[in-house]
Amino acid sequence: MKESLLTVLRDKKSTRTQFRRAADKLAELLAADAALHVQQEGISVETPLGKAAGSRLQEQIVLLPILRAGLLMLPHFMHLFEDSKVGFFGIRRDEKTALPQLYYENLPSFSPNDRLFLLDPMIATGGSASLALAHLKAKGADMSKVHLIGILGAKEGLEKIRKEFPQITINVVAVDPALSLRKFIVPGLGDFGDRYFGTA
Ligand code: PRP
Ligand code: URA
Repeated sequence: MKESLLTVLRDKKSTRTQFRRAADKLAELLAADAALHVQQEGISVETPLGKAAGSRLQEQIVLLPILRAGLLMLPHFMHLFEDSKVGFFGIRRDEKTALPQLYYENLPSFSPNDRLFLLDPMIATGGSASLALAHLKAKGADMSKVHLIGILGAKEGLEKIRKEFPQITINVVAVDPALSLRKFIVPGLGDFGDRYFGTA
């Protein structure tokens, strides 16, 4: 299912509506995958007929989209994790150097016990995610409870992140082999933010 949705995203003939629909569905599936990592605690409830063993989420969830493209993932994760806290990283790559620039940051308080989901559909050089991860580490996050969740990653960028932050969990739908001279993922899907939001 995820592969067929990714194929719609890759196809340059997909319209904005088709692209958005596929991206939204993928985000929903990625949120469900993320839920599998959240620790549960056992509880007992009274049904109308007796006692039943059950469970509930034990950890505080913190959702951290990287603007802009990470924004598309946010509603689907918020829908599933109703009590989550939300923080934002505004990070944009310089068009010439492809180096990430942080232009906005607004993070909630969090503790090392919390589970942090960093959301960005595209990991190319890995620079944007790495910058956000460095901020989370500096603010005291337990990196073994940090998950980078994306749609498409380039091998080079993923290797960089795994080297710098070996403790985190990375979850992407597919890994592509190369980066272009302009540091776009090849074959990739083009500029995710532009295609999703309709900018040039
Ligand atoms: C894109 C994408 C990632 C980043 C990935 O954002 O959404 O955040 O590039 O590239 P990297 O791994 O090489 O850092 P972009 O900088 O285009 O910003 P935008 O979403 O605001 O257009
Ligand atoms: N950002 C994108 O949207 N696409 C790429 O291929 C690389 C960075």
